[in-house]
Amino acid sequence: MERQGWLAAHRENTKRSFPEGSASVGAVDLFCGVGGLTYGLRSAGIDVVAGFDLDDSCRYAYETNNEGASFVRRNIKDVTAEEVSSLLSGYDVKVLVGCAPCQPFSSHRKDKKNRKEHKDWGLLGEFGRLVSELMPDFVSMENVPEIAKESIFSDFVETLEGAGYSVSYEVVRAEEYGVPQRRRRLLLLASKDGDISLIPPTCAKEDVVTVREAISSLPAVRAGSASRKDPLQSAAALSDLNMRRIKASTPNGTWRDWPEDLRLPCHKKETGKTYPAVYGRMSWDEVAPTITTQFYCYGTGRFGHPSQDRAITLREGAILQSFPLGYRFVEDGKRVSRSEVARQIGNAVPPKLGEAVGRSILAACPSRKQSEEVAR
Ligand SMILES: C[S@@+](CC[C@H](N)C(=O)[O-])C[C@H]1O[C@@H](n2cnc3c(N)ncnc32)[C@H](O)[C@@H]1O
Repeated sequence: MERQGWLAAHRENTKRSFPEGSASVGAVDLFCGVGGLTYGLRSAGIDVVAGFDLDDSCRYAYETNNEGASFVRRNIKDVTAEEVSSLLSGYDVKVLVGCAPCQPFSSHRKDKKNRKEHKDWGLLGEFGRLVSELMPDFVSMENVPEIAKESIFSDFVETLEGAGYSVSYEVVRAEEYGVPQRRRRLLLLASKDGDISLIPPTCAKEDVVTVREAISSLPAVRAGSASRKDPLQSAAALSDLNMRRIKASTPNGTWRDWPEDLRLPCHKKETGKTYPAVYGRMSWDEVAPTITTQFYCYGTGRFGHPSQDRAITLREGAILQSFPLGYRFVEDGKRVSRSEVARQIGNAVPPKLGEAVGRSILAACPSRKQSEEVAR
């Protein structure tokens, strides 16, 4: 059977059942990675049927944790509206979501001048192309806040508005939606039928989920070792010098707390610019710093564990991104590549943010609203 036909048949077999009388809502996730956004949308009640991504190393996690959703390895440039449409056929409400790579827009990017030459620069334009060809009922996209300054973003908004969509976007704080992490992201929502906006924060300032609440019950591990029960509860090794540094680090402190002989050459220069948070420890009673793709390295941010002398583990990073404890990233018996899994986790849309997107879409779904009113 051709791939497209196989996918449509697969989708038909695994389609979720929706409450009687309510509209069925189906989605396709572009740039799906290991499925942070897909998982969040599904938690909200949206049936994500497939995700498209170039990186086949994401397939296992995507499909294992999102039963019935198919991972399609494909360059978004080659994806046609027809195949997305066939995946969504039969759904009353069709949703297209995507989180294109943020690397060209990120503030961490060193060669800011040449960002337009980055290979991923134009991918948001491909997303816009698919929206205008497919005309789904709802669209959502996530990226770093810096994207709002770029013409590729204003072109995307113009494409959607030109096609008749009502568009809203804002920079959100992930901790206000239950993610135990300080993470600012731009979230865009668009609707073909009336206004749409993100649901209000689900977590008051005093109720944010702290590092303690998120990870303190995980088994203790030493730097360079892993838990026998969970191969993702695995911490990177530390050199002797870095072990001395982390022992001298206090939660939320900086390298300024260290004795002179532990400092890096750039710390010793009076004028030396440096990031005070690198080689830092997290604090138990606050949210974590932004989980990047390098979160397993003690030297790349405030990624030291609050009380154990090591960087956080892969599992701890995943939980701080709001993935559930049981989310599987690597097949049993397979070697865990720390850099690969950390990249997948750091790149993900936190599932809790994805859930807020899903709930916002369902709240704006006219047929859903009607059926809920009838049910009352
Ligand atoms: C920010 S991540 C997406 C994270 C994902 N939405 C999640 O929540 O886990 C961007 C993804 O885009 C994928 N990607 C990059 N270029 C691509 C392309 N040309 N076509 C398809 N996928 C691409 C990467 O492999 C990566 O998984």
